[in-house]
Amino acid sequence: MKIIRLEEIDSTNNYIKRNIEKLENYDIVSAEIQTAGRGRRGNNWVSTKGMALFSYLIKEEKELDINTYTKIPMIVGISVLKALKRIEENDYKFKWTNDIYFSNKKLCGILVEKINNNFIVGIGINVNNKIPTEIADIAISLRKNYEIDHIIKEIVIEFKKYYNDFLNGAWKNILNEINSYNFLKNKMIKIKINEEYFVGKALNIDIDGRIEIEIQNEIKKFNVGEITIEKGYV
Ligand code: BTN
Repeated sequence: MKIIRLEEIDSTNNYIKRNIEKLENYDIVSAEIQTAGRGRRGNNWVSTKGMALFSYLIKEEKELDINTYTKIPMIVGISVLKALKRIEENDYKFKWTNDIYFSNKKLCGILVEKINNNFIVGIGINVNNKIPTEIADIAISLRKNYEIDHIIKEIVIEFKKYYNDFLNGAWKNILNEINSYNFLKNKMIKIKINEEYFVGKALNIDIDGRIEIEIQNEIKKFNVGEITIEKGYV
């Protein structure tokens, strides 16, 4: 495990993708600035100085089955949450499927990409950056001068522990822990399924990693690809 520190790069996930053959399991790439930071669902990720912007590589010998690897983003989420708690105790929440929230606003985003048998885990945390006014109602920064390297190492160490436990069958326990920080729980949310909108009450994350939503007295379960949760309705 080594850390490659870059001043500026298009995206730390892209860097790993380009160098995947040369890099080893748990190698980390961090950058002060990203010029083309990427978020989920093709969004861009504004990447300014003061953020923790990094990616690490998980190399697997064999292809993990889909039921296993779709849970990796959640394992990353709980690892970030627990590591942050150790650095600064706060009431962080886990927002399904893989954001960390604080004070009802997004503190951290996670992008996991699968390349053959390998996974690139990309994490962006608002540590000491100023949130632009346009997104000040939805995003938050810790505004603390923490050493970014320290945060990164703590997160990767935490992830290794969780991931190892996960691969050894501890998903149920990990899920219970994730559910204890479930940001959406009991919130009324507006969701889009295909092109239709519904309003329902979010409940737990189930054993398959689906979110349970009570819609008109019926509990339905959704995979991440099946629904979009509309902003500003929680
Ligand atoms: C999201 O919430 O949509 C995910 C955001 C992930 C951002 C991080 S920053 C480091 C890594 N490199 C990228 O281009 N994206 C991830």
